[in-house]
Amino acid sequence: MVNIAILGYGTVGSGVAEVIGTNKKEIKNKAGQEIMVKHILDLRDFPGDPYEDRVTHDFNTILNDPEIRIICETMGGLKPAYDFTKEALSRGISVCTSNKELVAAHGPELIKIAREHKCNYLFEAAVGGGIPLIRVFNNCLTAERIEAVTGILNGTTNYILTKMQNEGSPFDEVLKTAQEKGYAERNPEADIEGYDAGRKIAILASLVSGKNMRYEDVYTEGIGKISATDFAYAKKMNSSIKLFAIFREVGRKYYAMVAPFIVDGAHPLSSVNGVFNAVFVHCNMLDDTMYYGRGAGKLPTASAVVGDVIDASKHIGTHIICRWTEDPMDVLDFDRIRHKFFVRCEKGKEDKALELFKGARVLSGADAIEFVFVTNEMTEKDFREKAAELGIISRIRVME
Ligand code: HSE
Repeated sequence: MVNIAILGYGTVGSGVAEVIGTNKKEIKNKAGQEIMVKHILDLRDFPGDPYEDRVTHDFNTILNDPEIRIICETMGGLKPAYDFTKEALSRGISVCTSNKELVAAHGPELIKIAREHKCNYLFEAAVGGGIPLIRVFNNCLTAERIEAVTGILNGTTNYILTKMQNEGSPFDEVLKTAQEKGYAERNPEADIEGYDAGRKIAILASLVSGKNMRYEDVYTEGIGKISATDFAYAKKMNSSIKLFAIFREVGRKYYAMVAPFIVDGAHPLSSVNGVFNAVFVHCNMLDDTMYYGRGAGKLPTASAVVGDVIDASKHIGTHIICRWTEDPMDVLDFDRIRHKFFVRCEKGKEDKALELFKGARVLSGADAIEFVFVTNEMTEKDFREKAAELGIISRIRVME
């Protein structure tokens, strides 16, 4: 039998206990031994909960219990999760986590501590919730050169964009309804501005390259400026608008960014709707492969944490190699990133627009109230300078 502890008995932590309780037999078969929740750390008490007798308010109870070999860190945030994780790993106790903030901020350091102490820091649940992704990058695609990763990594924004697309409603109205229904946080900044997806793509980028992509180096642009008019144009183009988190290798440099993109209806990611997440990976041998599912929620996220617990239980005393190091990634200067851009500007600017953006594909007809076009592929810097000279209403990057 392996005894484990859960740090944080909120949505995901209580989900971990539920998954272990519900799938007890399957888990025992797959782990080769029973997994038992011995302690739960939380500030609160949980009278009436089936695990109420295991709740402790003192982390040292867990740390000093020699029977605890694995900890599930489902507290979220950096403090005190960072200190607790370091202390546990330094004593050879494996940590399985759903904490994307901590993994993005300190992943390589915590992996190194785990390696030095022959235990594991596993974080399958930190990106894409229940969707298998970390193991895919660490194990399954290791024969590949991964050339591009494109993901919908935030359920809240995908839900909002899907509603805007289907109902033609403005952003503010859809966000308000999503908050009332509990689909969006009361403070939705991290989701809406792309910071959450930025942390997740930084983690995937680091696993692909083996070097550290700091989440601060991921350019992020949110969905707050996307309008019902943009969706009307996207519909005419047989396209949708998605918040993409992308990672690319260009020459010997890399970049990651999060931004809304107009994506052709034929692209597999264009039909990923609602709260679902998906990641589309282009490899040099396998070609394209895609992973889809629930990127958040109690049981999907807890299932990924428990999958890690089973893996950790089969590797007690051994470190599973994860090649994410502290070496900084060679990040491509943002100005040199190349895309096509969908542009809206006022009528009357046709000549100047086509002079600045030579070869642009015009989308608006003669009777349209705006002049609308898609540029050829160009650098961010070139686009920014020409758009400033023209004076535009808005622009969205295009993915084909
Ligand atoms: N706020 C996140 C989302 C939760 O909307 O996807 C899962 O990380």
